Amino acid sequence: MRIDADVVIVGTGVSGLFSALKLPADKKIVVITKSDLESSDSFLAQGGICVLRDEQDYESFFEDTMRAGHYENRKESVDIMIRNSRSIIDELVHYGVSFERGADVGFIYTKEGAHSRRRILFHEDVTGKEITEKLIQNVKKLSNVQLYEYTTMTDFIVNGGVCEGIIAENKERRIEIRATDTILASGGIGGRYKHSTNYPHLSGDAISIAGRYGVRLENLDYIQIHPTTLYSPRPGRRFLISESVRGEGALLYNKKKERFVDELKPRDFVVKAIYKQMEADGTDHVWLSVERIPKETVLNHFPHIYQHCLEEGYDMLNECIPVVPAQHYFMGGIWADKNSHTSMPHLYAVGETSCNGVHGANRLASNSLLESLVFARQAANHIIKEAK
Ligand code: SIN
Repeated sequence: MRIDADVVIVGTGVSGLFSALKLPADKKIVVITKSDLESSDSFLAQGGICVLRDEQDYESFFEDTMRAGHYENRKESVDIMIRNSRSIIDELVHYGVSFERGADVGFIYTKEGAHSRRRILFHEDVTGKEITEKLIQNVKKLSNVQLYEYTTMTDFIVNGGVCEGIIAENKERRIEIRATDTILASGGIGGRYKHSTNYPHLSGDAISIAGRYGVRLENLDYIQIHPTTLYSPRPGRRFLISESVRGEGALLYNKKKERFVDELKPRDFVVKAIYKQMEADGTDHVWLSVERIPKETVLNHFPHIYQHCLEEGYDMLNECIPVVPAQHYFMGGIWADKNSHTSMPHLYAVGETSCNGVHGANRLASNSLLESLVFARQAANHIIKEAK
């Protein structure tokens, strides 16, 4: 089967969906996803989405992002992300996304590790689900967008070094999708790990194919491990215990129920301390306690985490829960410039698949949804500009 389109988008996390929404209605857009529409890591994001609080916050937001990234971040990309953050939030609200608000105070902000200030908007502990669901609803209203679920990209179509679309496959057929522009938004690589917070089908397909064509890749060894996932002896995806739980005051304990680390240091620092402690204790997890967090905050801000722990046999209001680090995020990927354009003409990469330099060597918590949305819009704007 052959489909002709203006743009083909691979992936239905926030970066793929937002790219589709930001392209003009007269473009014929085809969106494919390897599983169902909702099974993306964006959907699983718990903590929230960063935003520049006010002009005075610029320098500390910039510095927090750079420090967490070991100053290996591309400064221009960090600046673009921060400067665009408020307008991205305005657009999300326009698409129906709801963030926690307080009576008379407007938005309420939470905190996570390595942030010097509260600047994270959230929707309970399911911010990614809230954003992704609303974007899916809006994309479904677009008559110029065709969605294909359970369809896997297997190759690019390349002619004279230029990307002219992709080859995809589903249970019924092989599909040749010819398009002027291709946007890769196919997520990370957690499916390749035994212990990951990611969906198992996210296995870096786009990165492997790009590598075969000599498309520039960057920082392939920059993998982020999240400090706190719920310990389970069973195989399968690890359940995240959001960093915002520590942001709101949760403490990490060793086997003697003593603290051993500053819980709000950057992720890579906390992970190293946990592994060291597990080795010293001869255990396969450490403990997380929410005893310092008011009960109403646990129940209102973290209802799904609370419920999931209960189902696993832990009442976090009355006892510590066992937590262990797991693979969470890929900072490297397909190199992309500030317009999300890769080294191959007419090929774009956005979201976790891409490496636009925002995150450097270690991502600051809750920068990923924001970075994905900002650079999805950059890609759409560039495609529009180039078409003119
Ligand atoms: C979390 O809620 O801890 C994850 C958020 C993120 O990865 O930025």
